Amino acid sequence: MSAPANAVASSAATSEPYQAPAGLADVSVASTTVSDVLGRLGFYHYRGYNAVDIARRGRFEDAWHLMLRGELPTTEQRDAFTGETSALRQLPPGVGELLPSIARLSGPGSLESVRTAVSLAAQAIGCKPWTDQSQDLTRAQAEQISAILPTLTAQLYRLATGQEVVQPRADLGYAANYLYMITGEEPGERSTYAVERYLMLTIDHGFNNSTFTSRVIASSGADLGAVISGAIGALSGPFHGGAPARVFDMLDAIGSPDNAEPWLRHAIEHGEKLMGFGHRIYKTIDPRSQLLHEVAQELHSERVGFAEHVEKTAVALLAELKPGRELYANVEFYAGVVLEAAGLPREMFSATFACSRVVGWMANVLEQVRDNRIFRPLARYVGPEAPREFPAFWQPGQA
Ligand SMILES: CC(C)(COP(=O)(O)OP(=O)(O)OC[C@H]1O[C@@H](n2cnc3c(N)ncnc32)[C@H](O)[C@@H]1OP(=O)(O)O)[C@@H](O)C(=O)NCCC(=O)NCCS
Repeated sequence: MSAPANAVASSAATSEPYQAPAGLADVSVASTTVSDVLGRLGFYHYRGYNAVDIARRGRFEDAWHLMLRGELPTTEQRDAFTGETSALRQLPPGVGELLPSIARLSGPGSLESVRTAVSLAAQAIGCKPWTDQSQDLTRAQAEQISAILPTLTAQLYRLATGQEVVQPRADLGYAANYLYMITGEEPGERSTYAVERYLMLTIDHGFNNSTFTSRVIASSGADLGAVISGAIGALSGPFHGGAPARVFDMLDAIGSPDNAEPWLRHAIEHGEKLMGFGHRIYKTIDPRSQLLHEVAQELHSERVGFAEHVEKTAVALLAELKPGRELYANVEFYAGVVLEAAGLPREMFSATFACSRVVGWMANVLEQVRDNRIFRPLARYVGPEAPREFPAFWQPGQA
C-alpha cells in the first residue's frame, strides 16, 4: 500500500513534506519481489509461493535457494546448492580465536555477541562496501555469511556455557547441523523436523523492522557485515525477535491455568503488552503461529496444553479489554514451545531466529543493491523556532 493519494496532493498544495504516520504504519517505502504479508487474509508468501506450504513440504535449502537465487530448485539444483552451502559453514581463519573473548563478555545466546562476531566474520571473508566490488561477489558473500551465522551462534553459546565448541558437519542438513553444533549430539528426526519448520517459517516476512534496517544500511553502500550486525540489533528488541524467551517468562510468571485469567487481566489493565500477541500487519491469527502450534502438538511438548490455555484466555481478554484491535497470537507465541521441545535452550530462541532471518535480509539486500537509491527521509522539526538568539552566558571556545 502506498502513501494515501490525498497526502501527496496536500503536500504539493502546501509544499510541506508528506508526514508519514508513527511507525510508518500503512506506508510503502520500497518495491520488492522477495515476500509479502496479506494481513487481513492471514497469508504470506515467498516470491509468490505460500510460505507455510513451503515450510510444511520443503527443506530449508529449497526456501534459501528461492530467496537468494530467485526460484525453487529442481532436485539436482537443491543437491548442488546444499553441497555448496554446507561447505561454507566453517568459520574463516582468525575468527574462532576471537570468540572466547566475545562469549566471556556476554551471556549465552546473546544477540549482542552474535552481532559483534558476525561483523568480524564478514571482514574475515573480505566483505567490502558493495559499491567497491562486483554484484556476483556480494551475492557469493551473502550465501557464505548466511552459512556461517549458525556456526558463530552455536560456538558462542557453547563457549558462554563453558563447553568445547563443536565444528559444523557438512553431511547434515541446515537444521540438523545447527542442533548438532549446539547440543554436541546428532539430533533425532522429530527435533530436526520441528526446528527446520521454524527456520523455514521465519526466513522473511515483508518489510519487517530488521529487514527495513538491513535495506537502509545497504542503501548507503555499506558492507554485508554492517548490514547484518545492524539487522541483528533491530531483531534483538522485545517488540521484534526478542519476544520468544519473554513469552516463556510470561508463562512461568502465570505458573498455573487458574492464574491465567487474573494475571493476564491485570497485565492488560496496567498497559502491558502481552508477549507473543499482536502484530502490525496481521489482523487474524498469524499463519506461522498456526503451523508452529501443530508442530508443538506433534512433539508432545509438555508446555503445549498450558500454552493453549493461556492463548485462549489472552485472546478472549484482549477482545474484551482492547476491542476492535484484533489481537491474536503471533509467531513468537508457539516458537519457544517448539524450540524448547526440540532441545534448544531458552537463551537461544532469538539467536535461532537470526539464523533463518539472515536469508531474508540477504535476499532483500541483493534486491536493494540492484536498483539502489540511498534511504534519506525527513523528520518534521518540532523544537524551538530557529534561528534562536544565543544565550548571554554562552562563551564560545576558540576553534
Ligand atoms: C507486535 C507489536 C509491536 C505491534 O505493534 P503496533 O502495530 O505498533 O501496535 P500498537 O502498539 O499500536 O497496538 C495497537 C493497540 O493494541 C494494543 N496491543 C498491541 N499488542 C498488544 C499486546 N501484545 N498486548 C496487549 N495489548 C496490545 C496496544 O496497547 C494498542 O492499544 P491502544 O489502542 O489502547 O493504544 C505489538 O503488538 C507488541 O508489542 N506485541 C508484543 C510483543 C511481541 O509479541 N512481539 C513479536 C512480534 S512478531
